Amino acid sequence: MNKEWWKEAVVYQIYPRSFNDSNGDGIGDLPGIREKVDYLEYLGIDLVWLNPVYDSPNDDNGYDVRNYRKIMDEFGEMGDWEALLEDLHDRGIKLVMDFVPNHTSDEHRWFRKSRKSRENEYRDYYFWRRGIEKEPPNNWESVFGGSAWGFDDLTTEHYLHLFSRKQPDLNWDNPEVRKELYEIMNWWLDKGIDGFRLDVVNFISKNPELPDDTSKGPYGSRGSKYYVDGPNIHSYLQEMNREVFAGRDAVAIGETPLVSDDEGAKYVDPSRNELDMIFQFDHVTFDLDDGGFWSQPRDWKLPELKEILNRWRKLTSKTGGWNATYLSNHDQPRMVTRFGNDEEYRRESAKALAMLLLTISGTPFIYQGEEIGMTNYTFSDISELRDVQTIQQFKEMKQKGRVESFDEVKEEVRFWSRDNARTPMQWSSEENAGFTEGDPWINVNPNKDQINVEREKEKEDSVLQFYRKLISLRNKHEVLVYGSYEPFLKSDKEIFAFRRESNKEATVTILNFSPKKKNLSIPDELTGTEAELLLSNYPVKTSEFSEVTSFRPYESRLIKWR
Ligand code: GLC
Ligand code: CA
Repeated sequence: MNKEWWKEAVVYQIYPRSFNDSNGDGIGDLPGIREKVDYLEYLGIDLVWLNPVYDSPNDDNGYDVRNYRKIMDEFGEMGDWEALLEDLHDRGIKLVMDFVPNHTSDEHRWFRKSRKSRENEYRDYYFWRRGIEKEPPNNWESVFGGSAWGFDDLTTEHYLHLFSRKQPDLNWDNPEVRKELYEIMNWWLDKGIDGFRLDVVNFISKNPELPDDTSKGPYGSRGSKYYVDGPNIHSYLQEMNREVFAGRDAVAIGETPLVSDDEGAKYVDPSRNELDMIFQFDHVTFDLDDGGFWSQPRDWKLPELKEILNRWRKLTSKTGGWNATYLSNHDQPRMVTRFGNDEEYRRESAKALAMLLLTISGTPFIYQGEEIGMTNYTFSDISELRDVQTIQQFKEMKQKGRVESFDEVKEEVRFWSRDNARTPMQWSSEENAGFTEGDPWINVNPNKDQINVEREKEKEDSVLQFYRKLISLRNKHEVLVYGSYEPFLKSDKEIFAFRRESNKEATVTILNFSPKKKNLSIPDELTGTEAELLLSNYPVKTSEFSEVTSFRPYESRLIKWR
């Protein structure tokens, strides 16, 4: 296994809009992040992934880029960004930028020119097609609801947008487009960043026929089978690698929704020179009911989750590929609400999930707020929502007569809406959780009095301290990075357990993934004299731990046995 800095890194994801506001306009910003760099160092992370901070009209909070070489006014200026990079690097923290290659904003210069006439040099930067009058050219649906086509009056043609109407898809089959994007990526890398997280990168190659889709795709969006892992995806990624990453020590992290096992394994196969790691989506879609986001999560069982995480490790290990591990991000429910228990056992289960994240193989991605056990939000009216996806889909459902009021879907929104992860970071119990001195752009979770950084810092047995301990254990025990991964008790319905092993050391992680007490017969090696308890989320006498075979709710242990 080749050693790489990005395999050893613990990543912290910052959603700038919700992290820290420095000037009281209610919106998080770059100087606000700078104020918290000490906190990042205190936490012990090695790498920051910053969600988009480029100039944008913010239809999709920065994922609709108007100018890739400019910083969004609300977030500050290029000077602020440069100062942030320096602050991070000074502390040995690397920075990965979020790059959006699949689409731009409709306000981007390229699209403004593209829409002007049918024959202009930018027309072919996007997908323009004729429909029968205003009928879209095919039946593809936007991931955010409605048709994936926008009609433009000026030239009476339609343009493709897999996301919002304000996010037209770029035509990667046009070599000019690819060239422009590589130039931008190189421009940022030359500024000294350490890599990219590539937004929906496995959507960039579309089937050129753009055929009607007669199957119903996941997310309820029709058409996905013609653009997920599309026909030229591997050659484009290899080209990107040659043009951008070759000869640099920068990391390429792909976001790959709906990626298949086979294609996913190829993306990260080191001999193919495509990506270093990907975010696969199986463990954040398997709990969707047929009704998708608009129904309660289906009743899943632990062996299903284990099977997914284990399967991806097996897939990549065949070629020496690597995994990215995440349990939440800015698009997903809060981790503790989704996989743990955000009431009685909030702290215990947040810690158990942290132990899973930081001791399983792959690079761990911590999403802001997760390290203090932040939870979903109890939305009670559509006016509290900001997310284009939630708002757009709700509008659609109302138009189609499927719902009349927010009340009918509030439970689902409280679970699935992306805004659950986007409420402001809770720094203290002050007004607005210390996030802003103005009116926050989105409501602060009222549980800020119980859940906030200040409090977590003071308490010795807090979730935050547990993260810090896990991070330092990961740094100390190389086996947690490079060791082999071997799951056991695979069909157990409450226990998640695995071994990590290298020539020098071996560890075992055992998590009780349930709110009930669980008796377990301890594997033989753990009763040996060498076995040592490295960390637990319950007080256990270190000398006696190997005899204690009963696991309390969400009890988790990291044990070194060799
Ligand atoms: C990715 C981003 C998400 C965004 C979408 C379109 O899934 O994580 O926030 O809305 O791409 O850019
Ligand atoms: Ca601000």
